[in-house]
Amino acid sequence: MDPDEIDRIAVLGAGNMGHGIAEVAALAGYDVTMRDINEEFVQNGYEQIEWSLDKLAEKDQISRDEADGALDRVTPVVDLEEAVGDADVVIEAVPEKMDIKKEVYREVAEYAPPAAIFATNTSSLSITELSEVSDRPEQFCGMHFFNPPVRMQLVEVISGANTADETLDTIEELAESLGKTPVRVRKDSPGFIVNRILVPLMNEAAWIVDADDATVAEVDSTTKYDLGLPMGSFELADQVGIDVGYHVLEYMHQELGDAYRPCPLLAEKVEAEDLGKKTGRGFYDYE
Ligand code: CAA
Repeated sequence: MDPDEIDRIAVLGAGNMGHGIAEVAALAGYDVTMRDINEEFVQNGYEQIEWSLDKLAEKDQISRDEADGALDRVTPVVDLEEAVGDADVVIEAVPEKMDIKKEVYREVAEYAPPAAIFATNTSSLSITELSEVSDRPEQFCGMHFFNPPVRMQLVEVISGANTADETLDTIEELAESLGKTPVRVRKDSPGFIVNRILVPLMNEAAWIVDADDATVAEVDSTTKYDLGLPMGSFELADQVGIDVGYHVLEYMHQELGDAYRPCPLLAEKVEAEDLGKKTGRGFYDYE
């Protein structure tokens, strides 16, 4: 597909990443359908976009007209056929579980136009394996945004074993048209590049606290002030979602071995549904 032919983008999943990606696409002028499995999820995502656009307008990072225009371009939907029926590109950001994503791709293939490109925002899972359950492995790639999408510049564009070069070129141009900087990831390996580095950092931080070698605040102070990262490791885990980091680690552990074994402290947080900012509590309290 020629990148100039892209007008309509369907974003599947209205969670942290889904609504952020929908916002970025709408700000760049695309018509966006944002889909989730029920009215509550999709409405919540829509309200998050509204909040974020307001915040950007308050800070004069965009004009009020730009904020209103972007919001108008987002259509929240629950019906999958309505979401993808006219889409030129489908960006999927559903939970980081292989079986859930596969189920989505089997279904989406029925309704999306044959020319539409499928781009998955998976943080770690095999692009090749996901593409094989779709009806279009050549028009399938990874398009991995970072949290929060409206603020983070990088997009990893990941090739599966069967992805056509034309698909990668189109998605890179799409990322550029969203104001992002795409980096092409040649090899479809678990966690790609960024999460191979970042998620073990969060895990190691958790192991330090688990062993009672330091507190959450002590670890975060060092990551932030000594290593110069913009957030402490635990602040970042709360921002990304502890469940997201945990699922990425589980997958990397399964595929790459014991070096990636998730710390039980993360499992406890997931079990307790203290997932970070999105639930109001993680390693820190937000309420
Ligand atoms: N929309 C609008 N405003 C937002 C926002 C959003 N989505 N998210 C946060 N803000 C606002 C905050 O509410 C806050 O507002 P106030 O100042 O009014 O309180 C403000 O932005 C904070 O912004 P600042 O400019 O003061 O802060 P900053 O310059 O430190 O930037 C940041 C914030 C860009 C998030 C920065 O801390 C950062 O880069 N953090 C690291 C994030 C990161 O590494 N993300 C990648 C995670 S890994 C991942 O996502 C991959 C994966 O697959 C797991």
